[in-house]
Amino acid sequence: MSNQTGRSTGLAIETAGLVKTFGENRAVDGVDLSVPAGTVYGVLGPNGAGKTTTVKVLATLLRPDGGEAHVFGHDVVREADAVRSRVSLTGQYASVDEDLTGTENLVLLGRLTGHSKRASDRRAEQLLEAFGLTEAASRQVKNYSGGMRRRIDIAASILNTPDLLFLDEPTTGLDPRSRNQVWDIVRAVVTQGTTVLLTTQYLDEADQLAARIAVIDQGKVIAEGTKGELKASVGAGAVHLRLRDAEQRPDAERLLKGALDAQVLLEADPLALTARICNGGGNGTEAAEKASRALAELARAGITVDNFSLGQPSLDEVFLALTDRPATPGGTPTDPRDDTQEEALA
Ligand SMILES: Nc1ncnc2c1ncn2[C@@H]1O[C@H](COP(=O)(O)OP(=O)(O)OP(=O)(O)O)[C@@H](O)[C@H]1O
Ligand SMILES: [Mg+2]
Repeated sequence: MSNQTGRSTGLAIETAGLVKTFGENRAVDGVDLSVPAGTVYGVLGPNGAGKTTTVKVLATLLRPDGGEAHVFGHDVVREADAVRSRVSLTGQYASVDEDLTGTENLVLLGRLTGHSKRASDRRAEQLLEAFGLTEAASRQVKNYSGGMRRRIDIAASILNTPDLLFLDEPTTGLDPRSRNQVWDIVRAVVTQGTTVLLTTQYLDEADQLAARIAVIDQGKVIAEGTKGELKASVGAGAVHLRLRDAEQRPDAERLLKGALDAQVLLEADPLALTARICNGGGNGTEAAEKASRALAELARAGITVDNFSLGQPSLDEVFLALTDRPATPGGTPTDPRDDTQEEALA
C-alpha cells in the first residue's frame, strides 16, 4: 500500500482553522489537527463536541464552511475524489445491509469494489474468521448483537485496506469483552499500515489505543499531544489515599490541600481521597517529594493511611482540569440514525 502523503509531510490529516456550522451552531469551530500517518489518533470529547462533524468533513461527507483540510495532501473540497479513494469510514453509521448475511455483505462489497467473485469470497471468509464472525456468517446482520454488528462494520470498512480509517465511537454501548475485541482489531489494522482516526467519549479507550490525542469540546481543540504530554500539562500526578478512619477524612483533606497546594477530591468511598499534584513544569521526582512530605504531615497529625499510591493523572482528571466539568463517559451518545440527511459533495 502506498503511504505517501502527497506533500511528504508524513501527515495523514492536516487541518487549519476548520469550521462547520449548522445555522447558528458552530459545530466545528476552528479546528487545527495534524495526524501523523501510520498511527492511531484519538479525538476525545463529550456528546455534541463536534467529533462526528469533524470526521464527516474529513471524509468529504460534509462541506466545510471555513478553514482547510487535507487528507494525504489532498484538499477535502477540491480533491474530494482523491480523498475518498484513500479513506474508509465506520462507527456511528450504518454501512452494512441489515437484511443481508455477514458473508453476503462482505462479498457484495468486494464485488462492488471491483474484485472477482472468487477473490471476494476469499476475502469475506478471511475477514469473518479474523473478526470471530465465522459462526454468524450466514445469519442476517439484523440479528447480530451490538458487538458483532460493530465488528462486521469494521470488517466492511477495511475490506480494501484503506490508508486512513475513520472509526467514529466504535465501542460506544459495547460490553467490556466486545470493546476489547474491537481494540484488538484496531491494533491489528494499524500494523497493516493504516492510519486510524478514532473518536471516543471514553478516556480509557484513547489511553489504550491512541499515540496522540486531541481533546475537543464545543467545536474547539482544547488540548492536544501525546498521552504523556496531556497528562503533564495538567499536573505531575495524582495521589490516591485510603484512610483507616473515615472520621479523619476532613482533617486529611485540609492537610493535603495545604501540603500539596492542590485540589482534593473526596471519593465515593468514605475512606478515600485523591489529590492532584500541580507542577510548575516539574517532573515525577518533584511530585514524589511533595507526596512524601504530605504523607509525613498526615502521620504527624495522627492520621493513619492504610493505602497510598502515586500515579499519573487519569485522562478523566485531565478532562476535568481542562473543562472544569467531567467528561461524562457514561453519557448517552446521540443516535447515529437521528442524523439529518447528509450533504454530500459533488
Ligand atoms: N446534520 C446536522 N444538522 C444540524 N446540527 C447538527 C447536525 N449534525 C450535528 N449537529 C450539531 O453539531 C454539534 C456537534 O455534533 P456532533 O455530532 O459532531 O458531535 P459528537 O461529538 O459527534 O457527539 P456524540 O458523541 O454525541 O456523537 C451538535 O450540537 C449537534 O447537535
Ligand atoms: Mg458523534
